[in-house]
Amino acid sequence: MRMFENCKERLNPIVLTAGLIAGVLSAPVQSKELNIYSHRQAFLLNPLLEGFKKQTGTKINIVFASKGLIQRLIAEGPRSPADIILTVDIARLQQYANKGLFTSVSSPTLKANIPAHLRNPNGLWYGLSKRVRVVAVSKDRVGKDEIKRLEDLADPRWKGKICTRKGSHVYNRALLASLVAAHGEATAEKWARGMVANLARKPQGNDRAQAKAISQGICDIAIMNHYYYFQMKKNKNPAQHKWAESIRIVFTNQGDRGNHVNISGIGLAKHSKNKKLAITLMEYLSSKQAQSLYAEVNYEYPANAAVDASREVKILGEFRADQLPIATIAKLAPTAQRIIDRVGW
Ligand SMILES: [Fe+2]
Repeated sequence: MRMFENCKERLNPIVLTAGLIAGVLSAPVQSKELNIYSHRQAFLLNPLLEGFKKQTGTKINIVFASKGLIQRLIAEGPRSPADIILTVDIARLQQYANKGLFTSVSSPTLKANIPAHLRNPNGLWYGLSKRVRVVAVSKDRVGKDEIKRLEDLADPRWKGKICTRKGSHVYNRALLASLVAAHGEATAEKWARGMVANLARKPQGNDRAQAKAISQGICDIAIMNHYYYFQMKKNKNPAQHKWAESIRIVFTNQGDRGNHVNISGIGLAKHSKNKKLAITLMEYLSSKQAQSLYAEVNYEYPANAAVDASREVKILGEFRADQLPIATIAKLAPTAQRIIDRVGW
């Protein structure tokens, strides 16, 4: 785990000492320093934190770790220096909420900026960006409109044609939870069984590995988060350009409930010592200014409905997103996981 990865500089002992002295002489002093525990890498966050740092003079430290932040927060308890937790996927956000690591935020600004279906009803977490779980199909081997709905992936005509990562990955679990919400557990299980029966190979690799498999002719259809298309296109490794070029992105369920979306999001740490300032940062991250930057660096869709997708992402065209409350997906995730175990996805 990487320790405090400061945005620009390491913690300055002189600043810290001065802060401590000031605190002793005239407590309470509003600390102008915030600590973010993040599952997202600092380079993705730094560009959008710049504006806040300039406006408020706040120093922001980012602790990045792809895993283990929940355990760390629990171990730190009330002494935790964390102010804000930033993560991807609704199931992870809900884990923090379930373990009591978030505290509720009631902010008219956040409520105005983030649509109700993209935030926790009790203000425990707020979505910052939307990630659309699309179907990627071979440009050459799957015709336009041959796949229109996620449900189509269980059709026996696609036997031996589908590649996915493991079902138990949070992205797939959330996707299946959206099917449970739409059709009920039994029908969702039938779908999962049919889809697994159509797999070209054992579930493996990440989302990008599925596009690679399409480019190699291993399969014709895959499930993928939309931003990987752009990450592959812009990748330093030219091989990934080919993977992107071999696929076409299909937004599913455009004639009914809309394409399933997941979120990246944010919550206020229960033991934050700077709650007021931390909420100001949360509000800033939901603002037009930060939202357009955030969407630009990640190729994601802004959660704030008043902000457009980046020019790059717009090439995918308009689409209809499932309006199912993200909180419902979190609630149904355990049901989805049981289905995944039963069907061996
Ligand atoms: Fe991802």
